[in-house]
Amino acid sequence: MKNKSIFFISLLFVVALSSCVRDKNNPGYAYMGEHDMYYTKFDKAYAPSKVLPNGQINQPAPQGSVDRRSTYFPFHPKNIAEKVAGQAKAATELKNPILPTTVNLAEGKHQYGIFCADCHGVDAKGDGHLYTSGLFPAKPRDLTSSYVQTMADGSIYFIITEGSISGLMGPHGVQVIPENRWKIINYLRSIVKK
Ligand code: HEC
Repeated sequence: MKNKSIFFISLLFVVALSSCVRDKNNPGYAYMGEHDMYYTKFDKAYAPSKVLPNGQINQPAPQGSVDRRSTYFPFHPKNIAEKVAGQAKAATELKNPILPTTVNLAEGKHQYGIFCADCHGVDAKGDGHLYTSGLFPAKPRDLTSSYVQTMADGSIYFIITEGSISGLMGPHGVQVIPENRWKIINYLRSIVKK
């Protein structure tokens, strides 16, 4: 009796282990495995295709598609005149969708600390260490000044995204996601209200 169970347990191990394959690129034997059900066959995004348009697997996004993480922002200035016009357009057309809740203000402060404080200073007075150390030659604006505080949220959003009109401050749209741009703006409003 005892010998029999040992025999069956060993048999079970042998069967179980025989389904393991050392080759990492081969999934091993699977029930119905050959029928594309367990292991779907797919092509790489940039592989050529004989049936799809452009002769490749990856197709361009349909015209007018918008990245889910971005706000639709149709002005990308090519020169100073377009920057001036874009900032004016952003001022009237873009509304801040983020509420200045405690959580959002804390995140705005955090984001400001990462992306703006090096130049504009921890207190936003325009005295960040990149400027005071002489590493960055242009004087960053005092963000608590009425010059900045009287700007519409959309204007500041535009400046973060595309840079200042003079170009002395570069665009930060790549680094700061749209939601966090608005949170930074809310934070900048909150530090002067107090
Ligand atoms: C590399 C340094 C640097 C960083 C980082 C930086 N700025 Fe600036 N910023 C400047 C300078 C320099 C100016 C003055 C630009 C000018 O006079 O055109 C400026 C100007 C501004 C202005 C006013 C624009 C104007 O018309 O003068 C705003 C608003 C502003 N920055 C916000 C921000 C915010 C918000 C961040 C963080 C997302 C940020 N900046 C990050 C350097 C920087």
